Amino acid sequence: MAKVYVFDHPLIQHKLTYIREKSTGTKEFRELVDEVATLMAFEITRDLPLEEIEIETPVEKTKSKVLSGKKLGIIPILRAGIGMVDGILKLIPAAKVGHIGLYRDPKTLKPVEYYVKLPSDVEERDFIVVDPMLATGGSAIEAINSLKNRGAKHIKFMCLIAAPEGVEAVKAAHPDVDIYIASLDEKLNDHGYIVPGLGDAGDRLFGTK
Ligand code: PRP
Ligand code: URA
Repeated sequence: MAKVYVFDHPLIQHKLTYIREKSTGTKEFRELVDEVATLMAFEITRDLPLEEIEIETPVEKTKSKVLSGKKLGIIPILRAGIGMVDGILKLIPAAKVGHIGLYRDPKTLKPVEYYVKLPSDVEERDFIVVDPMLATGGSAIEAINSLKNRGAKHIKFMCLIAAPEGVEAVKAAHPDVDIYIASLDEKLNDHGYIVPGLGDAGDRLFGTK
């Protein structure tokens, strides 16, 4: 069964407060999302495998640990997921980045796929799908379907804010995918927005309306 991790680190919670605040402008919103993505990447990479190599310090030869060279892929769900990519790449710069374009139909709230471009070696990579918002779960479920249909086997999902409804939907559709969240909010409103949430992540990130 999928595990759900809520990152309650004080720095993440502090920055998330200002991300939520409606008077926070586009520039600051973007910077904060980038910073929280880096902090979350630090937590999500906790289980990366290590191997020992031999090195020589100025004092003596010794064995020391390095990452074992696992291939990673970051998959932002367009548009808003893009805001989290650079923050993650600061810690894992060798990761490849694929893109899955989805928008939520405002009437049905169902995701509509319009773009998919993935690294060529999908089957060999471990993926982190990123999107600031997990609301009904439709977009995350569809993005993960899209990745699995192309051969991906190991997938994690990371978001800033999730609604309980979305978490349950992703767990039911993809029990093999662990979910990493900065905040589990209260509920969805009648328009499918997360309460209290942060509003429309894409609009706040890119200054559109
Ligand atoms: C937002 C958000 C997620 C999706 C979450 O994107 O970035 O992708 O909604 O909602 P769900 O869990 O109910 O599917 P949106 O559809 O607004 O597209 P955009 O990023 O292009 O603005
Ligand atoms: N998409 C957003 O950008 N915000 C929400 O609250 C729900 C879906």
